[in-house]
Amino acid sequence: AFYSVVLAGGGGTRLWPVSTRHAPKPFRSFLGPDRPTLFRMTIDRALRSAVPKALRVVCAPHLSPLVGFELEQLGFASSSVVIEEPEPRNTGPAVLLAALHLVSQDPQAVMAVLPADHLIRREADYDRAIALAARAAEDRRVVLLGLVPDRPETGFGYIESEPGAAPFQPVPVRRFVEKPDAQKARAFVESGHYFWNSGIFVFRADVVIEEFARFQPDMVRAMKAFLAGDTSAFARCVDLSFDYAVLEHSERVTVIPVDLGWSDVGNWWAVHEQFPLDESGNSARGSVVSRDSRNCHLHAETRPLVVLGMENAVVVESQAGVLVAGSQWMQEVREAVDDLPVAT
Ligand code: GDD
Ligand code: MG
Repeated sequence: AFYSVVLAGGGGTRLWPVSTRHAPKPFRSFLGPDRPTLFRMTIDRALRSAVPKALRVVCAPHLSPLVGFELEQLGFASSSVVIEEPEPRNTGPAVLLAALHLVSQDPQAVMAVLPADHLIRREADYDRAIALAARAAEDRRVVLLGLVPDRPETGFGYIESEPGAAPFQPVPVRRFVEKPDAQKARAFVESGHYFWNSGIFVFRADVVIEEFARFQPDMVRAMKAFLAGDTSAFARCVDLSFDYAVLEHSERVTVIPVDLGWSDVGNWWAVHEQFPLDESGNSARGSVVSRDSRNCHLHAETRPLVVLGMENAVVVESQAGVLVAGSQWMQEVREAVDDLPVAT
Protein backbone atom coordinates (compact mmCIF):
# COMPACT_ATOMS: atom_id res chain seq x y z
CA ALA A 1 0.00 0.00 0.00
CA PHE A 2 0.94 3.66 -0.23
CA TYR A 3 1.85 5.44 3.00
CA SER A 4 2.31 9.13 3.74
CA VAL A 5 5.06 9.65 6.29
CA VAL A 6 5.10 13.17 7.71
CA LEU A 7 8.37 14.35 9.29
CA ALA A 8 7.48 16.70 12.09
CA GLY A 9 10.55 16.79 14.24
CA GLY A 10 12.58 19.79 13.11
CA GLY A 11 13.59 22.71 15.29
CA GLY A 12 12.67 25.63 13.06
CA THR A 13 14.49 28.30 15.07
CA ARG A 14 14.88 30.46 11.95
CA LEU A 15 11.34 31.63 12.75
CA TRP A 16 12.13 32.42 16.37
CA PRO A 17 10.51 33.76 18.58
CA VAL A 18 7.25 32.37 17.17
CA SER A 19 8.80 28.99 16.42
CA THR A 20 10.54 27.46 19.43
CA ARG A 21 11.84 24.05 20.36
CA HIS A 22 8.65 23.13 22.19
CA ALA A 23 6.29 24.68 19.66
CA PRO A 24 8.17 24.65 16.34
CA LYS A 25 7.19 26.11 13.01
CA PRO A 26 4.86 23.34 11.73
CA PHE A 27 2.58 23.82 14.75
CA ARG A 28 2.44 27.62 14.95
CA SER A 29 0.09 29.73 12.88
CA PHE A 30 2.28 32.61 11.79
CA LEU A 31 0.62 33.09 8.39
CA GLY A 32 -2.56 34.65 9.74
CA PRO A 33 -5.24 33.76 12.25
CA ASP A 34 -7.51 32.10 9.69
CA ARG A 35 -4.78 29.92 8.15
CA PRO A 36 -4.26 26.35 9.39
CA THR A 37 -0.84 25.32 10.70
CA LEU A 38 1.71 23.98 8.20
CA PHE A 39 1.40 20.58 9.88
CA ARG A 40 -2.35 20.55 9.29
CA MET A 41 -1.88 21.59 5.65
CA THR A 42 0.60 18.73 5.21
CA ILE A 43 -1.83 16.19 6.69
CA ASP A 44 -4.65 17.51 4.51
CA ARG A 45 -2.49 17.04 1.41
CA ALA A 46 -1.44 13.58 2.56
CA LEU A 47 -5.01 12.48 3.14
CA ARG A 48 -5.85 13.21 -0.46
CA SER A 49 -3.27 10.72 -1.74
CA ALA A 50 -3.09 8.01 0.93
CA VAL A 51 -5.78 5.83 2.40
CA PRO A 52 -6.46 7.63 5.68
CA LYS A 53 -5.18 4.85 7.85
CA ALA A 54 -1.94 4.73 5.86
CA LEU A 55 -0.78 7.96 7.49
CA ARG A 56 2.27 8.07 9.76
CA VAL A 57 3.89 10.95 11.62
CA VAL A 58 7.48 10.69 12.86
CA CYS A 59 8.35 12.94 15.79
CA ALA A 60 10.15 13.03 19.12
CA PRO A 61 8.25 12.73 22.45
CA HIS A 62 8.36 16.46 23.23
CA LEU A 63 6.18 17.08 20.16
CA SER A 64 3.69 14.25 20.76
CA PRO A 65 1.14 16.48 22.54
CA LEU A 66 1.05 18.97 19.64
CA VAL A 67 0.86 16.21 17.02
CA GLY A 68 -1.76 14.35 19.05
CA PHE A 69 -3.89 17.46 19.39
CA GLU A 70 -3.95 18.08 15.64
CA LEU A 71 -4.57 14.40 14.81
CA GLU A 72 -7.44 14.18 17.28
CA GLN A 73 -9.16 17.08 15.54
CA LEU A 74 -9.12 14.95 12.40
CA GLY A 75 -10.44 11.90 14.20
CA PHE A 76 -7.16 9.93 14.33
CA ALA A 77 -5.89 8.06 17.35
CA SER A 78 -2.24 9.12 17.62
CA SER A 79 -1.28 5.65 18.81
CA SER A 80 -1.96 4.22 15.34
CA VAL A 81 -0.30 7.09 13.46
CA VAL A 82 2.69 8.38 15.43
CA ILE A 83 6.09 6.73 15.17
CA GLU A 84 8.02 8.11 18.10
CA GLU A 85 11.78 8.69 17.98
CA PRO A 86 13.38 8.95 21.42
CA GLU A 87 15.02 12.24 20.41
CA PRO A 88 15.47 14.22 17.18
CA ARG A 89 18.46 12.83 15.23
CA ASN A 90 17.76 14.64 11.96
CA THR A 91 15.89 13.26 8.94
CA GLY A 92 18.19 10.30 8.15
CA PRO A 93 17.31 8.24 11.23
CA ALA A 94 13.68 9.45 11.02
CA VAL A 95 13.27 8.12 7.47
CA LEU A 96 15.06 4.85 8.29
CA LEU A 97 12.92 4.31 11.38
CA ALA A 98 9.72 4.85 9.38
CA ALA A 99 10.89 2.55 6.57
CA LEU A 100 11.80 -0.32 8.95
CA HIS A 101 8.55 0.18 10.80
CA LEU A 102 6.47 0.07 7.61
CA VAL A 103 8.24 -2.85 6.00
CA SER A 104 7.56 -4.96 9.09
CA GLN A 105 3.84 -4.34 8.60
CA ASP A 106 3.75 -4.34 4.80
CA PRO A 107 6.74 -5.65 2.81
CA GLN A 108 5.38 -3.93 -0.32
CA ALA A 109 5.03 -0.52 1.33
CA VAL A 110 5.62 2.55 -0.85
CA MET A 111 6.22 5.63 1.26
CA ALA A 112 6.02 9.36 0.54
CA VAL A 113 8.19 11.38 2.92
CA LEU A 114 6.56 14.74 3.54
CA PRO A 115 8.22 17.56 5.49
CA ALA A 116 5.68 19.16 7.79
CA ASP A 117 6.85 22.71 7.18
CA HIS A 118 6.02 23.57 3.57
CA LEU A 119 3.49 25.72 1.81
CA ILE A 120 2.18 24.46 -1.55
CA ARG A 121 -0.18 26.55 -3.62
CA ARG A 122 -0.76 24.33 -6.67
CA GLU A 123 -2.47 21.41 -5.01
CA ALA A 124 -3.63 19.65 -8.18
CA ASP A 125 -0.07 19.65 -9.56
CA TYR A 126 1.15 18.30 -6.24
CA ASP A 127 -1.36 15.43 -6.38
CA ARG A 128 -0.33 14.65 -9.95
CA ALA A 129 3.37 14.67 -9.06
CA ILE A 130 2.88 12.34 -6.09
CA ALA A 131 0.90 9.87 -8.20
CA LEU A 132 3.67 9.90 -10.84
CA ALA A 133 6.33 9.50 -8.17
CA ALA A 134 4.52 6.50 -6.68
CA ARG A 135 4.64 4.79 -10.08
CA ALA A 136 8.36 5.51 -10.53
CA ALA A 137 8.96 4.22 -7.00
CA GLU A 138 7.50 0.84 -7.99
CA ASP A 139 10.47 0.56 -10.39
CA ARG A 140 12.79 0.71 -7.37
CA ARG A 141 13.66 4.36 -7.91
CA VAL A 142 14.29 6.85 -5.10
CA VAL A 143 12.11 9.69 -6.36
CA LEU A 144 12.18 13.29 -5.31
CA LEU A 145 10.21 16.31 -6.42
CA GLY A 146 12.48 19.03 -7.84
CA LEU A 147 11.66 22.72 -8.12
CA VAL A 148 12.94 25.21 -10.68
CA PRO A 149 15.16 27.60 -8.69
CA ASP A 150 14.51 31.34 -8.99
CA ARG A 151 17.32 32.57 -6.71
CA PRO A 152 20.71 31.31 -5.45
CA GLU A 153 19.31 30.11 -2.13
CA THR A 154 21.98 28.42 0.01
CA GLY A 155 19.55 26.78 2.44
CA PHE A 156 18.41 24.09 -0.03
CA GLY A 157 19.74 20.98 -1.71
CA TYR A 158 20.45 21.20 -5.47
CA ILE A 159 19.87 18.39 -7.94
CA GLU A 160 21.65 18.11 -11.27
CA SER A 161 19.55 16.01 -13.63
CA GLU A 162 20.42 14.11 -16.79
CA PRO A 163 19.43 16.09 -19.91
CA GLY A 164 15.79 16.09 -20.95
CA ALA A 165 14.23 17.35 -17.76
CA ALA A 166 10.69 18.67 -18.28
CA PRO A 167 7.75 19.19 -15.95
CA PHE A 168 6.19 15.91 -14.79
CA GLN A 169 8.88 13.85 -16.58
CA PRO A 170 10.83 11.62 -14.19
CA VAL A 171 14.53 11.91 -15.11
CA PRO A 172 17.58 10.31 -13.46
CA VAL A 173 19.71 12.46 -11.19
CA ARG A 174 23.37 12.98 -11.99
CA ARG A 175 24.43 14.65 -8.78
CA PHE A 176 23.01 15.95 -5.56
CA VAL A 177 24.58 18.82 -3.63
CA GLU A 178 23.13 19.67 -0.23
CA LYS A 179 23.29 23.34 0.84
CA PRO A 180 26.06 24.69 -1.47
CA ASP A 181 27.90 27.94 -0.78
CA ALA A 182 26.65 31.14 -2.45
CA GLN A 183 29.08 30.96 -5.37
CA LYS A 184 28.11 27.40 -6.26
CA ALA A 185 24.43 28.16 -5.80
CA ARG A 186 24.70 31.05 -8.29
CA ALA A 187 26.42 28.82 -10.87
CA PHE A 188 23.74 26.12 -10.40
CA VAL A 189 20.87 28.57 -10.92
CA GLU A 190 22.53 30.10 -14.02
CA SER A 191 23.24 26.70 -15.57
CA GLY A 192 19.52 26.01 -15.93
CA HIS A 193 19.72 22.27 -15.32
CA TYR A 194 19.66 22.21 -11.54
CA PHE A 195 16.58 21.90 -9.38
CA TRP A 196 15.92 22.56 -5.73
CA ASN A 197 15.33 19.52 -3.61
CA SER A 198 11.82 19.97 -2.23
CA GLY A 199 12.51 17.49 0.56
CA ILE A 200 9.50 15.47 -0.69
CA PHE A 201 10.59 11.90 -1.49
CA VAL A 202 8.79 8.76 -2.63
CA PHE A 203 10.26 5.24 -2.59
CA ARG A 204 9.59 1.66 -1.66
CA ALA A 205 10.44 1.13 1.99
CA ASP A 206 12.52 -1.99 1.20
CA VAL A 207 14.50 -0.11 -1.48
CA VAL A 208 15.40 2.77 0.81
CA ILE A 209 16.45 0.32 3.53
CA GLU A 210 18.80 -1.30 0.99
CA GLU A 211 20.27 2.13 0.22
CA PHE A 212 20.75 2.88 3.92
CA ALA A 213 22.38 -0.54 4.39
CA ARG A 214 24.80 0.30 1.60
CA PHE A 215 25.77 3.84 2.59
CA GLN A 216 24.99 3.94 6.35
CA PRO A 217 25.44 0.37 7.60
CA ASP A 218 26.13 1.49 11.18
CA MET A 219 22.89 3.44 11.28
CA VAL A 220 20.93 0.40 10.10
CA ARG A 221 22.58 -1.81 12.73
CA ALA A 222 21.80 0.66 15.50
CA MET A 223 18.21 1.19 14.33
CA LYS A 224 17.52 -2.54 14.11
CA ALA A 225 18.84 -2.97 17.64
CA PHE A 226 16.59 -0.13 18.77
CA LEU A 227 13.54 -1.74 17.17
CA ALA A 228 14.48 -5.05 18.80
CA GLY A 229 14.11 -3.38 22.18
CA ASP A 230 17.53 -1.89 22.96
CA THR A 231 16.30 1.62 23.79
CA SER A 232 19.78 3.08 24.10
CA ALA A 233 20.67 2.03 20.52
CA PHE A 234 18.84 4.97 18.93
CA ALA A 235 21.47 7.35 20.27
CA ARG A 236 24.10 5.40 18.31
CA CYS A 237 22.52 6.60 15.05
CA VAL A 238 24.61 9.43 13.71
CA ASP A 239 22.83 12.81 13.49
CA LEU A 240 22.56 13.07 9.71
CA SER A 241 19.98 14.35 7.23
CA PHE A 242 18.51 11.93 4.68
CA ASP A 243 20.05 14.15 2.02
CA TYR A 244 23.62 13.52 3.26
CA ALA A 245 22.92 9.95 4.39
CA VAL A 246 21.45 8.58 1.16
CA LEU A 247 20.66 11.10 -1.59
CA GLU A 248 24.24 12.27 -2.10
CA HIS A 249 25.35 8.65 -2.65
CA SER A 250 22.48 6.69 -4.18
CA GLU A 251 22.42 5.90 -7.90
CA ARG A 252 18.70 5.23 -7.82
CA VAL A 253 17.66 8.86 -7.49
CA THR A 254 15.13 10.20 -10.00
CA VAL A 255 13.80 13.75 -10.02
CA ILE A 256 10.36 14.88 -11.14
CA PRO A 257 10.53 18.60 -11.98
CA VAL A 258 7.42 20.47 -10.86
CA ASP A 259 6.25 24.00 -10.20
CA LEU A 260 4.13 23.74 -7.07
CA GLY A 261 3.93 27.36 -5.94
CA TRP A 262 6.16 26.02 -3.17
CA SER A 263 7.74 27.80 -0.24
CA ASP A 264 9.37 26.32 2.81
CA VAL A 265 8.70 29.64 4.57
CA GLY A 266 12.16 29.09 5.96
CA ASN A 267 12.76 32.57 7.38
CA TRP A 268 10.83 35.69 8.30
CA TRP A 269 11.34 37.28 4.90
CA ALA A 270 9.75 34.26 3.23
CA VAL A 271 6.84 34.66 5.64
CA HIS A 272 6.64 38.37 4.73
CA GLU A 273 6.29 37.40 1.06
CA GLN A 274 3.16 35.39 1.89
CA PHE A 275 1.33 38.42 3.28
CA PRO A 276 -0.61 41.18 1.53
CA LEU A 277 1.44 44.38 1.76
CA ASP A 278 0.26 47.91 2.49
CA GLU A 279 1.25 50.79 0.19
CA SER A 280 4.62 51.09 1.96
CA GLY A 281 5.43 47.42 1.51
CA ASN A 282 4.77 46.53 5.14
CA SER A 283 2.94 43.48 6.39
CA ALA A 284 1.54 43.50 9.88
CA ARG A 285 -0.04 40.95 12.13
CA GLY A 286 -1.52 41.63 15.57
CA SER A 287 -1.75 44.90 17.44
CA VAL A 288 0.71 46.97 15.39
CA VAL A 289 1.13 50.68 14.63
CA SER A 290 3.84 51.80 12.20
CA ARG A 291 4.85 55.22 10.87
CA ASP A 292 7.41 56.20 8.23
CA SER A 293 8.41 52.58 7.84
CA ARG A 294 8.89 50.67 4.62
CA ASN A 295 9.30 47.01 3.66
CA CYS A 296 8.89 45.70 7.17
CA HIS A 297 7.39 42.52 8.54
CA LEU A 298 5.72 43.38 11.84
CA HIS A 299 4.25 40.66 14.02
CA ALA A 300 2.92 41.17 17.54
CA GLU A 301 1.56 38.20 19.44
CA THR A 302 1.15 39.08 23.10
CA ARG A 303 1.84 42.83 23.38
CA PRO A 304 1.24 45.91 21.24
CA LEU A 305 4.03 46.85 18.85
CA VAL A 306 4.91 50.41 17.75
CA VAL A 307 7.44 50.80 14.94
CA LEU A 308 8.77 54.17 13.74
CA GLY A 309 11.11 54.96 10.85
CA MET A 310 12.22 51.38 10.14
CA GLU A 311 13.15 50.05 6.70
CA ASN A 312 13.75 46.54 5.36
CA ALA A 313 13.36 44.98 8.76
CA VAL A 314 11.57 42.28 10.67
CA VAL A 315 10.15 42.97 14.12
CA VAL A 316 8.51 39.97 15.74
CA GLU A 317 7.21 39.78 19.30
CA SER A 318 5.92 36.67 21.07
CA GLN A 319 5.72 35.16 24.54
CA ALA A 320 9.16 33.65 23.96
CA GLY A 321 11.03 36.84 23.01
CA VAL A 322 11.53 39.69 20.56
CA LEU A 323 13.40 39.64 17.25
CA VAL A 324 14.55 42.85 15.55
CA ALA A 325 16.55 42.14 12.39
CA GLY A 326 17.42 43.68 9.03
CA SER A 327 15.97 41.78 6.10
CA GLN A 328 19.51 40.84 4.95
CA TRP A 329 20.10 38.96 8.19
CA MET A 330 17.50 36.22 7.92
CA GLN A 331 20.00 33.34 7.53
CA GLU A 332 21.77 34.48 10.71
CA VAL A 333 18.74 34.22 13.00
CA ARG A 334 19.12 30.53 13.82
CA GLU A 335 22.72 30.79 14.98
CA ALA A 336 22.09 33.97 16.93
CA VAL A 337 19.16 32.37 18.76
CA ASP A 338 21.35 29.36 19.61
CA ASP A 339 23.61 31.81 21.47
CA LEU A 340 20.86 32.92 23.85
CA PRO A 341 21.95 32.18 27.41
CA VAL A 342 18.59 30.56 28.15
CA ALA A 343 16.95 28.30 25.55
CA THR A 344 13.39 29.33 24.70
N1 GDD B 1 10.84 13.34 12.82
C1 GDD B 1 11.83 14.19 12.61
N2 GDD B 1 12.99 14.05 13.31
N3 GDD B 1 11.67 15.14 11.68
C2 GDD B 1 12.69 15.99 11.46
C3 GDD B 1 13.92 15.91 12.16
C4 GDD B 1 14.06 14.87 13.13
O1 GDD B 1 15.08 14.72 13.82
N4 GDD B 1 14.73 16.91 11.71
C5 GDD B 1 14.02 17.57 10.76
N5 GDD B 1 12.78 17.03 10.63
C6 GDD B 1 11.70 17.46 9.74
C7 GDD B 1 11.44 18.94 9.82
O2 GDD B 1 10.37 19.19 10.73
C8 GDD B 1 11.04 19.26 8.41
O3 GDD B 1 9.66 19.01 8.22
C9 GDD B 1 11.81 18.25 7.55
O4 GDD B 1 12.13 17.19 8.43
C10 GDD B 1 13.07 18.82 6.90
O5 GDD B 1 13.97 19.23 7.91
P1 GDD B 1 14.58 20.68 7.92
O6 GDD B 1 15.42 20.84 9.12
O7 GDD B 1 13.50 21.70 7.70
O8 GDD B 1 15.55 20.60 6.64
P2 GDD B 1 16.08 21.82 5.80
O9 GDD B 1 15.00 22.78 5.50
O10 GDD B 1 17.30 22.37 6.47
O11 GDD B 1 16.57 21.11 4.43
C11 GDD B 1 15.78 20.15 3.77
O12 GDD B 1 14.67 20.72 3.13
C12 GDD B 1 14.98 21.61 2.02
C13 GDD B 1 13.67 22.11 1.43
O13 GDD B 1 12.89 22.69 2.44
C14 GDD B 1 16.69 19.42 2.75
O14 GDD B 1 15.98 18.27 2.31
C15 GDD B 1 17.06 20.31 1.58
O15 GDD B 1 17.80 19.56 0.60
C16 GDD B 1 15.81 20.85 0.95
O16 GDD B 1 16.14 21.71 -0.16
MG1 MG C 1 13.00 23.08 6.20
